Amino acid sequence: FFRRKVAAQLCRIFGHKEDAFIPAISAIPVSKKQISPDLQLSVSFLVNNGFLSSDGDFKTKTELLARQLKPDGVIEEVIPSRGGIHFRINKIILAKRLLEQLQKDPQGFGVQSELFRGLHGRRTLVEFSSPNIAKKFHAGHLRSTIIGNFISNLKAALRNEVIRVNYLGDWGMQFGLLGAGFQRLGSQDKLRDNPLQHLFDVYVQINREAENDEAIQEAAREFFRCLEQGDEQSLSLWKQFREITIEEYQRIYKRLGVHFDHYSGESFHQKKTLDVLQQLRDRGLLTVTEKGTGVVDVSPAGDMSSYATVQRSDGTSLYITRDIAAALDRKEKYDFDEMIYVTDKSQAVHFRQLFQILQAMQHPWAERCHHVPFGLVQGMSTRRGEVVFLEDVLDEARNRMLRNMNQSRTTKDLDDPEETAEKVGVSALIVQDFQGPITSDYKFDWDRVLQSRGDTGVFLQYTHARLRSLIRMHDGGEETSCDPLHLQDKRSILILQHLLRYDEVLYQCNQELQPRYLVNFLMTLCHLVASAHKELPVKGSSPAVAQARLHLFGGACTVLANGMAILGIKPVDKM
Ligand code: ARG
Repeated sequence: FFRRKVAAQLCRIFGHKEDAFIPAISAIPVSKKQISPDLQLSVSFLVNNGFLSSDGDFKTKTELLARQLKPDGVIEEVIPSRGGIHFRINKIILAKRLLEQLQKDPQGFGVQSELFRGLHGRRTLVEFSSPNIAKKFHAGHLRSTIIGNFISNLKAALRNEVIRVNYLGDWGMQFGLLGAGFQRLGSQDKLRDNPLQHLFDVYVQINREAENDEAIQEAAREFFRCLEQGDEQSLSLWKQFREITIEEYQRIYKRLGVHFDHYSGESFHQKKTLDVLQQLRDRGLLTVTEKGTGVVDVSPAGDMSSYATVQRSDGTSLYITRDIAAALDRKEKYDFDEMIYVTDKSQAVHFRQLFQILQAMQHPWAERCHHVPFGLVQGMSTRRGEVVFLEDVLDEARNRMLRNMNQSRTTKDLDDPEETAEKVGVSALIVQDFQGPITSDYKFDWDRVLQSRGDTGVFLQYTHARLRSLIRMHDGGEETSCDPLHLQDKRSILILQHLLRYDEVLYQCNQELQPRYLVNFLMTLCHLVASAHKELPVKGSSPAVAQARLHLFGGACTVLANGMAILGIKPVDKM
């Protein structure tokens, strides 16, 4: 709204069509300096959009332009400065419009912005989590799970149609080893009681034994060959592993509040790999090496200085072959506008090669496939030692949180402290993970994660619960009006100004597919709310002032809850 007003002013003078200008004015980056509702248009922006000519004395010209711009009800003052033109926004209108909007359409706040017009109705496929069956579910899979969930939530909030896919690592040589291992060491009883643990134990031990035992290695190869050839007995054992593991994972995903539209593992696409190889051959992209392997040239100069292996000498498929098949299949099934893969950064080369091969196969949509890489988490361990299963991390977070909460006096009033501890524990994990650039590695630290002061998920939850309790306490149930005149003090204006930036923050998150902008935004909001709690009491104020403040806190609570939901955090009402 405010941008539109500024745009209208400029367009009036220049006779530009307003519609054309709004995307440009909307794309002004989030100001890193002092938050403010005012708009600052830099000289370079004015030049790039044809409002100033690029020659001559900018200072005089900006002043001239500023004098032509008329303040109106919304823009109180137009101030030329060295860097450009400053538009001061009317703060009463700010308070009124913002709180009205928040009340009328709490879910639509921010996400209905002009900034996202181009995104509506586009289809995005997000592939994330993708653990390997029967292998360790390492911290990397947790990262992929929560980052992928964030990206999916964000896109969905911006009115994209999102398809969430879990690409299970359920095929490959390791299943030969696991199958052969299970035939020797496995027990159906243990598999029923504690499947992940048992499969993992079998896998670890058979790996160790296979190192010095040629016979086991041969048995593993034989088992995998049987699988690839569709041998029923081997397949039924493999199926059992797969189903049990998926069930276990689903329980964990539920705790994290994550869901998938499809589980399509590597095994599913394995069947199409022969097709893929044929297509590569037909297009003259496949070369057979002296060793009998099939490779595709991915070197910049086309001289085979780097290549991707797509077929083993025994004819079996590889990771990348299955990925090519999966991409083709998804395009056909879902006709996505964009596809996003979330994995740790060690797979960057793999995805570069994958996209390159798809391009070479004449699929222009390969340009709209993106890899979102993330860094490593070090030192994620629990009381039982280094993390093997994600569930242990979730349990540890919940138990530690429960212990912390028991030391605080409010916990006694909770109906279900365990459930609250679980939600707060998970938010702590998520916030710690999202605080920096996701490409960075970081060191996991339980004490820091669960602190209630400082910028943690616990602090976000605490602020949300406090706001909810304030609203509960004073909610008369009836529709009340809010007089913006009572929200002109510094604290209130700071909060309002901050809320006004919500859409820009989402915009930046979406541009870079990075959650940290939203995390920082919500942290700042919580700090602003914390100071306002003290200085803007509701209790004891005159009814009109109390009402206005409740509206303000209510608005802050809505944006906080919406933002948390995008991050993948379930806000708690009490803690
Ligand atoms: N299962 C793989 C792993 O754990 C990740 C899969 C990534 N996705 C893909 N399409 N290759 O390393």
